[in-house]
Amino acid sequence: MRIATLTSGGDCPGLNAVIRGIVRTAAGEGHTVVGFEDGWQGLLEDRRVQLYDDDFIDRILRRGGTILGTGRLHPDDFMAGIDRVKANLEDAGIDALIPIGGEGTLKGARFLHDNGVPVIGVPKTIDNDVNGTDYTFGFDTAVAVATDAIDRLHTTAESHDRVMIVEVMGRHVGWIALHAGMAGGAHEILIPEFPFDIDDVCRRMARRFQLGEKYGIIVVAEGALPKEGTLDVAEREVDQFGHEKFQDMSALIAKEIENRLDTDVRSTVLGHIQRGGTPTAFDRVLATRFAVNATKAAIRGDFGKVVALKGGSIELIDFEEAVGTLKEVPEKRYETARSLFG
Ligand code: F6P
Repeated sequence: MRIATLTSGGDCPGLNAVIRGIVRTAAGEGHTVVGFEDGWQGLLEDRRVQLYDDDFIDRILRRGGTILGTGRLHPDDFMAGIDRVKANLEDAGIDALIPIGGEGTLKGARFLHDNGVPVIGVPKTIDNDVNGTDYTFGFDTAVAVATDAIDRLHTTAESHDRVMIVEVMGRHVGWIALHAGMAGGAHEILIPEFPFDIDDVCRRMARRFQLGEKYGIIVVAEGALPKEGTLDVAEREVDQFGHEKFQDMSALIAKEIENRLDTDVRSTVLGHIQRGGTPTAFDRVLATRFAVNATKAAIRGDFGKVVALKGGSIELIDFEEAVGTLKEVPEKRYETARSLFG
């Protein structure tokens, strides 16, 4: 059997662990693997590389990024290229395709499946926003990086009696902010799911100072928004892939707190640091489990599914469960974090 894989969308720690897991599992059962470069674009342009179960593949387990490269493609361009994709897969003699990506990539995978391509999806994203799986790999690494940054900001904030604002990734969901904020002992966590009231944020911070504390840490997800009519936020533009462009929300909040509380405020945007570098042990294990299970499903011919982590076990779920809506932070989880604000 000839299996193909590709990585698409924003990169994330653990992608190489999946590639290694697919190649080694397939080789162990006498099958071969090719990789398409730069995500869907490489599949459209038939840019493929043979992957061997050799020392190189074995060593990529701990390497960040993706050896195949990745890319974003507008869904319309992808759908328009379906005949080319099918022809390329046929020419290359591909019996199964394992795309690794976030919600957008999995939508593309479902589209291929609906058009007769044998597909098994592997979910990835540091944002942890794919439905149907408890966690995606990359998330644990991003949280570890953000928590380390928050720990460091505590000591400098404390030394200077400052409010520090840390902006983390999360366009539509606040999982990274929630987990890193809780792990780092943030005094406020602002996430897209629950629009914030700047009056409340300032009130809690002012009370903290009245009680004798001299500094504060606020964690903000990049997609966090104020309650309507409370702060002046410019309308978001959309990029060429249909994604909203985010402005510097942490800077806006910093200015507001500085003006209202007459205190020193600094903001730090962690950005792509959260996505780079070596995956944590948790992410390597999850990525490897996804890879082994996806490859075995492909060998069995169990197509049209997505691998997912559910309560500790790896299961195969339908595309419908994984795509369509994003996995948001539920009220109860935010409530727990909120108990420690201020
Ligand atoms: O992978 C998801 C994500 O990390 C978002 O949180 C973030 O907004 C986005 O990717 C940024 O990616 P890029 O700069 O590559 O478009």
